[in-house]
Amino acid sequence: MAEHYLCPLNELADNGSRGFDLPEAGMSVFSVRRGEQVYLYRNLCPHIHIPLEWVEHEFLTADSCLIQCANHGALFTIESGQCIAGPCNGQSLLAIEPVIRDGALYAVINA
Ligand code: FES
Repeated sequence: MAEHYLCPLNELADNGSRGFDLPEAGMSVFSVRRGEQVYLYRNLCPHIHIPLEWVEHEFLTADSCLIQCANHGALFTIESGQCIAGPCNGQSLLAIEPVIRDGALYAVINA
């Protein structure tokens, strides 16, 4: 397991999302912040295994209540990553363990 630095916590807008490329880990991830809680998922839709976003850093519905795949509209809960509507209904995003330390966000990724 390895920790990958993502960004300072204060760069993450509350109720906002942000994407991160981690070439050293061979993947992209994205975060969603809810107050002091940060959720992290691999940026790969379970439908056909492509990145979810069309616009950089935009992974949420207009009301910021759900994660939305821009490709075919699948909707996922922010808290669990489970798809609740769309072509991959019942499947889930792959959760990545977040670590917040000294005001910065890290992703814990199994090597
Ligand atoms: S690729 Fe995400 S819904 Fe089709």
